[in-house]
Amino acid sequence: MTYAAITGWGMYVPEPVLSNADLEKMVDTSDDWIVTRTGIKERHIVAPHETTSTMGSAAAREALERAGVRPEAIDILIVATTTPDQLMPSAACLIQTALGARRAGPVDINAACSGFVYALAIGAQFVRSGASRTVLVVGVDTMSRFLNYEDRNTCILFGDGAGAVVLQATTQPSGVLSIDLGAIPGTGELLEIPGGGAAHPATAETIAQNLHFMTMQGRDVFKYAVRAMGDSSAKVIADAGLVPDEIALVIPHQANLRIIEATAKRLELPMERFYVNIDRYGNTSAASIPIALCEAEAEGRLRPGDSVVLTAFGGGLTWASAVVKWGP
Ligand SMILES: CC(C)(COP(=O)(O)OP(=O)(O)OC[C@H]1O[C@@H](n2cnc3c(N)ncnc32)[C@H](O)[C@@H]1OP(=O)(O)O)[C@@H](O)C(=O)NCCC(=O)NCCS
Repeated sequence: MTYAAITGWGMYVPEPVLSNADLEKMVDTSDDWIVTRTGIKERHIVAPHETTSTMGSAAAREALERAGVRPEAIDILIVATTTPDQLMPSAACLIQTALGARRAGPVDINAACSGFVYALAIGAQFVRSGASRTVLVVGVDTMSRFLNYEDRNTCILFGDGAGAVVLQATTQPSGVLSIDLGAIPGTGELLEIPGGGAAHPATAETIAQNLHFMTMQGRDVFKYAVRAMGDSSAKVIADAGLVPDEIALVIPHQANLRIIEATAKRLELPMERFYVNIDRYGNTSAASIPIALCEAEAEGRLRPGDSVVLTAFGGGLTWASAVVKWGP
């Protein structure tokens, strides 16, 4: 039996910080409202010279170094992003060039904030089937370039960042053990960037109508999120042959602290088993889970042999969960 172990991990967040106090000067909001309703205190925003591919490359370099893998050894390079530098070429092609990963097959996938777990699931299948030995998975988004900083419903929630993991073949039962992917039909309009695609190609009119910015029906998304992350986590735990109490740590998508707390309640697990860093980064979309994974590891919260749940939801509305056995 071949398994897909996580042998390297890395993250990158840009230096500039946008605090709640900064946002108070931009829209009609308050630090108290944002902290109480979301748990977010600050988020990092790209500097003018940075993009999705520069952040993704930085996280990828750290992951490769930790795994002791040279860029030429990567077979497949999967980038989860909704905010590529441009529509074509893909962010994965740009990251391939930046890394010098000349043998890699680069591809972007878009499942919004669930994207990293989708990419991990796809990458793990390449490894487990024997088709590839080494896969680089990157989750990265530059949400700040698609936010309307006059819309308090959205601009307070998101930050920029990147995370990456290296998957390698092993015979030890570890790595990605179970996965659950899905989406709720008919919910696309609850969270969307309507302009700039084939339906509404960019024109002066679409720009004037702000169609190039993200819009969101927050309350509806909230309800779907709790149900999707709770039920999907329960499914992957059962599919891995485990019960919730055997899960050492849940690394949830960091969208809203109250969503994480409601998910914990639904799974009947204490909040101590959930990793939370939303206060410092906000919602970094496809980057949120790999960033949280890196920080959880650095804080000693991931030990070899631990069973860990990754669970996410996002635009689509998509969801994705996985059970990962940490360690060699
Ligand atoms: C967006 C979200 C934080 C709003 O919190 P909420 O408790 O649902 O708040 P509501 O939308 O009910 O709004 C409550 C009030 O606060 C106001 N409000 C909204 N945004 C505000 C802001 N940034 N600052 C101050 N007040 C705000 C609303 O206008 C509303 O006022 P009203 O009662 O006078 O109408 C929450 O719904 C959420 O997190 N949803 C999920 C979003 C998400 O995760 N998206 C990404 C998916 S990957």
